[in-house]
Amino acid sequence: MSKILNWEEFLFPYQQAVNELVLKFQSIIDEYKLRGLYSPIESVKGRVKKSYSILEKAERKNIPDDMIEELIEDIAGVRILCQFVDDIEKIVEIIKSRDGIDLRVIEEKDYITNTKPSGYRSYHMIIAYTLMTSRGYREILAEIQIRTLAMNFWATAEHSLKYKYNRKLPEELQERLVRSAEAAFWLDKEMNTIREDIMQAQRINERRDRLTLSIIENLKKIYASDKVTDIGNIDNEYMKAMEGGDVFKMENFNRELEALLEKIEADEK
Ligand code: GTP
Ligand code: MG
Repeated sequence: MSKILNWEEFLFPYQQAVNELVLKFQSIIDEYKLRGLYSPIESVKGRVKKSYSILEKAERKNIPDDMIEELIEDIAGVRILCQFVDDIEKIVEIIKSRDGIDLRVIEEKDYITNTKPSGYRSYHMIIAYTLMTSRGYREILAEIQIRTLAMNFWATAEHSLKYKYNRKLPEELQERLVRSAEAAFWLDKEMNTIREDIMQAQRINERRDRLTLSIIENLKKIYASDKVTDIGNIDNEYMKAMEGGDVFKMENFNRELEALLEKIEADEK
């Protein structure tokens, strides 16, 4: 029988740690985007291990109840996805830069260099996350899995299959999975070589989106002012500037709008 009687209470700080970690990584994504930069983090998700999985793992690894907190490192789990293999290194650096601030890095497991026999690839970091609770500071172990979209595609499929076959996959299926893992990694390596081009395209898309918003905001302000008589001309220029989505044309037009707005504001004083 398990000595953990109140699971809700036991798991509460883990849920809190997962929530905070997800929020912090999401903020990193948001900040890169705000600055018009490519974000090495594509998305982040978290989960707390279910009580029955914790007990199953404790039994499988012969871990007594009073050692669960110390020895099961993935009760709090965070998964970070990225587009390119080279992003993983950047993300690891971002996490390490927080070492001693809001977390401590306990262990790193590089299943990319050291691919698992199953074909599994990911970069794992075990951290101790500093949590502020009503009873003061406390460290919570968490596992951060960092992987590309292709690695995640593979791991998700393999996980479902293992579940379906109760962890014992038929040999033929295992071999096919190892081959598909290689195919996924080949795709990752190919994509990595065109990373610069893709990143540039994405940066331009971000910039175009932000410019469009800014142009519309500026136009609204101009339309709202009764100082401008030649709205028709502005409309024409707007159509010309937006045609083809050329960022340079859009930037020039936006600068003209800003100059016009400055003039209007000066006149109003
Ligand atoms: P468990 O595998 O969870 O018992 O933990 P462990 O202490 O052996 O650590 P390990 O680093 O091997 O695995 C941690 C986590 O990585 C697992 O819980 C899975 O989420 C993931 N993982 C490891 N190996 C595989 C694999 O072969 N396939 C899939 N889909 N996921 C894996
Ligand atoms: Mg394992």
